[in-house]
Amino acid sequence: MSSAVSAFVEVHARDAEKMKKSLLRNNLMDKRRNVEHSKSYVLFPVVDIASERIKKLINSGGGRIVRKRGKNAAKVSSYLDLLREKLGDYELKRLTSGYDLLGNIALIELPKELEGRKRTIAEAIISANGSVKTVLEKAGPVSGAYRIRKLRYVAGKRNYTANYRENGCTFVFDVRKVFFSNRLSYERSRISSLVKDGERVVVMFAGVGPFVAVIAKEHRDARVIGIELNRAAYGYMKQNIRLNRLENAEAVLGDVKKAYKRYASYADRVIMPLPMNSELFIKEALAVAKNNAVVHLYTFCKIGDAASAFKRIKKRAEGCGCKIKLVGARVARPYSAEEEECVLDLKVRKIG
Ligand SMILES: C[S@@+](CC[C@H](N)C(=O)[O-])C[C@H]1O[C@@H](n2cnc3c(N)ncnc32)[C@H](O)[C@@H]1O
Repeated sequence: MSSAVSAFVEVHARDAEKMKKSLLRNNLMDKRRNVEHSKSYVLFPVVDIASERIKKLINSGGGRIVRKRGKNAAKVSSYLDLLREKLGDYELKRLTSGYDLLGNIALIELPKELEGRKRTIAEAIISANGSVKTVLEKAGPVSGAYRIRKLRYVAGKRNYTANYRENGCTFVFDVRKVFFSNRLSYERSRISSLVKDGERVVVMFAGVGPFVAVIAKEHRDARVIGIELNRAAYGYMKQNIRLNRLENAEAVLGDVKKAYKRYASYADRVIMPLPMNSELFIKEALAVAKNNAVVHLYTFCKIGDAASAFKRIKKRAEGCGCKIKLVGARVARPYSAEEEECVLDLKVRKIG
């Protein structure tokens, strides 16, 4: 096999979203190759970049051009290229949602019309992406207290244990038993970039520990506690803490409604990644927060209407003897036609 040199734009994860938009807007993204991650950096594959204007655009967005040698890197076809030969135009048009990549496992979600074509689609994903060994299909909504969903085997190796890398950390978990979303990787990096020296951080609803690990790895002098109800997720969080050699992190098994009592006025920062229900745990988060702490609360809101969520939360906080100030708000990920997942960064002042 020949080895080709390909161009990438390397950018810190905190600037990645802006850079991605700018590369897409300027038709610079090379869609035949995959986005790569290295520690806190994201590498966007780009078509060759010659003009001074383009170089300026990249530099002003905090990026730099790097060239990497890879096995036929520039020649790998995307799964859509492969499918163009196998599916009709109508079928290709229905294939809108792409797939979620969890290291060696890809998750697909197809409209009913493509039910009979799912094996072909899955095999194209495996052919186009060297790291994918298994394709599973989302076979139901995320539900229940553990926020998990049914998954159905489609193609490749019959395996459900993901080996996934993100923000310089490695994670292992059984995709059937725990919640995990790669779409929140930017959020993990964003929050980690806000953590200051020596902070104490409590991650409620910690899952297999992605927030815990990314923060603990980047801030060796911080202390990070992750609380999780699902015994399987808690087991993986412990394993992931060991795997990433994080002596400053701790996994706690339990219900936040009870476990919070052990951490009264403990934290400089509280993270609440349970968008479905986090507003029901405001009392507990405020009890864990120190005066002047920051709470990052994830919740669903009508598209473009984070303000209403803030109003509701403010009222609840006042009922708990706290004033909260909105210091940041952003869309964490799109959710449905009407709703999005937003994150509110809240500064807490305890009164009385
Ligand atoms: C949406 S997932 C987020 C997981 C993880 N933070 C992530 O970003 O991948 C929410 C997690 O909260 C856990 N959970 C739900 N209710 C809980 C509770 N009352 N106490 C502790 N954990 C809870 C679920 O088991 C699930 O793992």
